[in-house]
Amino acid sequence: MSEDAKQIVFLRGVTKSFAKGGEALTVLHGLDFEVEEGQFLALMGPSGSGKSTLLNLIAGLDVPTAGRVEVAGHDLGALGDGQLAKFRANTLGFVFQSFNLLPVLTAAENVALPLLLTSVPRSERKTRAHTALKVVGLSDRVDHYPRQLSGGQEQRVSIARAIVNDPQIIIADEPTGELDRASADAVLDLLQKLNEELGKTIIMVTHDPRAAKRASSVRELDKGQLS
Ligand SMILES: Nc1ncnc2c1ncn2[C@@H]1O[C@H](COP(=O)(O)OP(=O)(O)OP(=O)(O)O)[C@@H](O)[C@H]1O
Ligand SMILES: [Mg+2]
Repeated sequence: MSEDAKQIVFLRGVTKSFAKGGEALTVLHGLDFEVEEGQFLALMGPSGSGKSTLLNLIAGLDVPTAGRVEVAGHDLGALGDGQLAKFRANTLGFVFQSFNLLPVLTAAENVALPLLLTSVPRSERKTRAHTALKVVGLSDRVDHYPRQLSGGQEQRVSIARAIVNDPQIIIADEPTGELDRASADAVLDLLQKLNEELGKTIIMVTHDPRAAKRASSVRELDKGQLS
């Protein structure tokens, strides 16, 4: 385990290469990276610099070519597929640029979805979903379908979905990338509140300097290295 228990994300010597037409494309080069518990970190850097790749490694959605990834006390390299799925379902919440809501489900049903992967009993799922939607200020939209919501509201539903399992860490990949200024600010207000009031650790990739300003620290990824 990492020497400092307060480091909720701890990467050492992480290299990630992809096979591309017989050649290896190395995206991350021996990366050392930590996130402290309770931090709101903004990760910036040019397109193609490996930001999403890094998030995928932290989420256990992909494996490094070399190096060590520890998240919330788990050495991800030591976990099998079933254990990784459990780790994700209990420890992480995800927010994506394009919301990724299922169009055939209502807001409350979308929010309740991650609970299917946890031990939360069926009878409790609806209450949990409604509570999460209340946190994001959408109590009056629980039965709306995604097409009946604005982009900003859709992203708030997806934030409700990210917190419904009460995760320690929220991973957000360009959460304001498709939103107008006002909706983006509302989403950032919410992320800041989740960090400050509920103590969630947040790792947010963004190209937007205004979004990065909300974070407690900013790291820059360029050519597979952090600066
Ligand atoms: N599964 C994959 N197979 C092959 N190459 C990949 C794969 N995933 C990512 N890459 C390559 O790795 C590099 C980094 O991709 P990544 O998606 O991490 O960039 P990014 O920093 O998130 O960029 P953006 O800001 O555009 O989202 C790119 O050159 C990409 O083509
Ligand atoms: Mg990306």
